[in-house]
Amino acid sequence: MYNVRKVTEDIIWIGASDRRLARFENIFPIPRGVSYNSYLLMDEKTVLLDTVDAGVAGQFFENLEHVLAGRSLDYLVVNHMEPDHCAMIGDIIRRYPEVSVVGNAKTFGMLKQFFGTGFEERAVVVKEGESLSTGAHTLHFVMAPMVHWPEAMVTYDAKDKVLFSADAFGTFGALNGNIFADEVDFERDWLADARRYYSNIVGKYGAPVQALLKKAVGLDISVICPLHGPVWRENLGYFLDKYQKWSTYEPEDQAVVVMYASMYGRTEAAADALAGCLAERGAKNIAVYDVSGTHISELISEIFRASHLVLATPTYNGGIYPIMENLLTDMKALAVQKRTVALMENGTWAPVTAKMMREKLGEMKDMNVLDTQVSIKSDMAAGQRGELEALADAIVASME
Ligand code: FEO
Repeated sequence: MYNVRKVTEDIIWIGASDRRLARFENIFPIPRGVSYNSYLLMDEKTVLLDTVDAGVAGQFFENLEHVLAGRSLDYLVVNHMEPDHCAMIGDIIRRYPEVSVVGNAKTFGMLKQFFGTGFEERAVVVKEGESLSTGAHTLHFVMAPMVHWPEAMVTYDAKDKVLFSADAFGTFGALNGNIFADEVDFERDWLADARRYYSNIVGKYGAPVQALLKKAVGLDISVICPLHGPVWRENLGYFLDKYQKWSTYEPEDQAVVVMYASMYGRTEAAADALAGCLAERGAKNIAVYDVSGTHISELISEIFRASHLVLATPTYNGGIYPIMENLLTDMKALAVQKRTVALMENGTWAPVTAKMMREKLGEMKDMNVLDTQVSIKSDMAAGQRGELEALADAIVASME
């Protein structure tokens, strides 16, 4: 059965959700599923804006055929070539052999890589600022390189003031009938997944996202249609503000997150005791995570949210406990910066990880690693309470 919704009089959402896929990009757990949004503009010409992942192909084609209602498909605009959006391009061309494909020079390079030759005769190659009239509507093309791949672009419909934003402003999470952000409690039910999506998938590309946001200022936008998650038609400033913070690596919350690795529970106990000391000093909404039991995408998302981070880990094979080391590697890869970090280390015969973590954090931009740290030998000694208190004092002082 078709499942479509009108975004404007002429623009129809024809996407679909996948609640069976366990991991997006085969990395990120998506217990709430994911949507692949595709849009159809019904004008004098018909225009499909991006396709979907192969996992929802059946629903997508049912939706497309329903809305076209026997009309031909004139254009396919390819804003992004990652296979969660481009997978159906070959099938589209087989079903609608008259379709012209609109993309930039890089788009067509990737089309050839993914699908082989055969696009030359139907290619409409566009550059920054070029447009395409489809009748009553005119589509304007704005390049958005590295949001999230080099060929990415966004498309702006000046008539309905709609921005088709590709991966930007997307989130994990299946759409449950309500495709608009104003139809759901976004802050309660979607923000954490939106942050996890942004930080892990686009997080590295803060500068390109900033460049896109600056271009967007020049457009009169009433509706944002991303390729994943809810469509925005109200209170756009709320989500734009989140993107402004995330893409400049500014924390959303003045808050402490404690992330520990612990083999037998003693480093965990020390991390918990530190959290208690912080709470006694007035810190609120402290979050404590076991890195071994929390997916790294959740940890990265929390690091993007909070201003202060405590890392506590044992020594392992003479180095940092591997899961904690992996987190530090991912933090660097995703360009984490502008955070205050406190360190705790544990080692039965060689506690060396604070120094090692400090070195890794030194490779990231504008990280304030506190001089005060706690070093444990096997377990917190009775006389070490003062060291925990001193670390809590230093963290709280850095929050003022
Ligand atoms: Fe949703 Fe970069 O693809």
